[in-house]
Amino acid sequence: MTAINNPAQKLSDLGVSQPEQIAPLFAEVRARFDSESAAAHDEGSWKQFRDAWLGRKSGVLTLITDNWLKPASPELKRVVGQELNQLRARVESEIASRRAAIESGADQAALARARIDLSLPGVVRPIGSHHLIRQVLQQIEDIFVSIGFSVVEGPEIETPYYNFEALNIPEFHPVRDDMDTFYLDLPKGAPNPLLLRTHTSPMQIRTMEKRQPPVRVIVPGKVYRRDNPDATHSFMFHQVEGLAVDTDITFCDFTGTIEYFVKQFFGAGVKARFRPSYFPFTEPSVEFDVTCVFCGGSGTSAGGGTCSKCKGAGWIELFGAGMVDPAVYGFVNYDPKKVSGFAFGMGIDRLAMLKYGIDDIQVFFQNDVRFLRQFP
Ligand code: FA5
Repeated sequence: MTAINNPAQKLSDLGVSQPEQIAPLFAEVRARFDSESAAAHDEGSWKQFRDAWLGRKSGVLTLITDNWLKPASPELKRVVGQELNQLRARVESEIASRRAAIESGADQAALARARIDLSLPGVVRPIGSHHLIRQVLQQIEDIFVSIGFSVVEGPEIETPYYNFEALNIPEFHPVRDDMDTFYLDLPKGAPNPLLLRTHTSPMQIRTMEKRQPPVRVIVPGKVYRRDNPDATHSFMFHQVEGLAVDTDITFCDFTGTIEYFVKQFFGAGVKARFRPSYFPFTEPSVEFDVTCVFCGGSGTSAGGGTCSKCKGAGWIELFGAGMVDPAVYGFVNYDPKKVSGFAFGMGIDRLAMLKYGIDDIQVFFQNDVRFLRQFP
């Protein structure tokens, strides 16, 4: 006779008829309970264990009550009742203490996982920095913002109207040859040709179309030209356009603003000069030069020979500029009799090369970290 798996059977079916047979029967049940209790070591197995013993419908204690206690003869019932009470007390307390043990074990394990060992070396993450072009652009913006200019940006894909015509460069003007550029392949029947802007000057027009004078803006951005790459040319480079238009802006305001910028950007020791030049959208037009930052304007290198950067001239060409051509005002419905202004267009990459003594524009775009690290 074994009781281990048999609380489903009645005592008579198990051959139990005498009170002294009851204690061994319960001893077997306790042994089974003890071994199952030891196996309940986590939340899932503990729940199965609890239901197997305390489950209302078919838990072991319910089966013993229904099959052993209730149908027992009065003589057996007293002994079975005593044994069952003891068993119930043991089952309930053991199941509760198993649960407490599992919970505290889980807590311990979770704590161990979350614990941070502050003595371990940290993960060193490399700190990035702004590209030199971005740094120089920021310097330029700071200087112009400090004297009342605001910063606007415009599209890199332009129409020929904004890139050329509204800037007083009609279709067959020879200046277009210098700026021969990238046109977009558009589907047949598209209304307008589109191109990658060759300069930031289209934003002069877009700004004046939207705003009435006084206008004082700078426009940083990328521009594109079909130029062969060399030490000073790239097919994509960066410009900052400047535009100031008001009722009483003179040539002196223009040169004063540029000289102020040059001194702030390069330092007080650098001098600026302008030479006559030509742009269809400025009149008069000038080219600004600064004293060579490599030889200090002497034209002679440190070793005594001719300075290779300015070729001995002592001056380096910086950027084009001029007073806005009255014809341009006609494209934006400004009255050329009432307003005047100046505009300039600087190559940021060339300014950066001059200021930091970089002799090849291509290094800006090669992304060699050995170069980038020199300008943290
Ligand atoms: C212009 O682009 C005119 N829009 C500038 C201007 C604006 C004049 C407003 C008057 C009024 P230019 O083609 O000279 O001008 O270019 C301006 C500057 O861009 C040059 O001085 C030079 O610094 C830079 N630049 C020109 N071509 C390249 C190139 N391929 N790679 C790098 N920098 C260039």
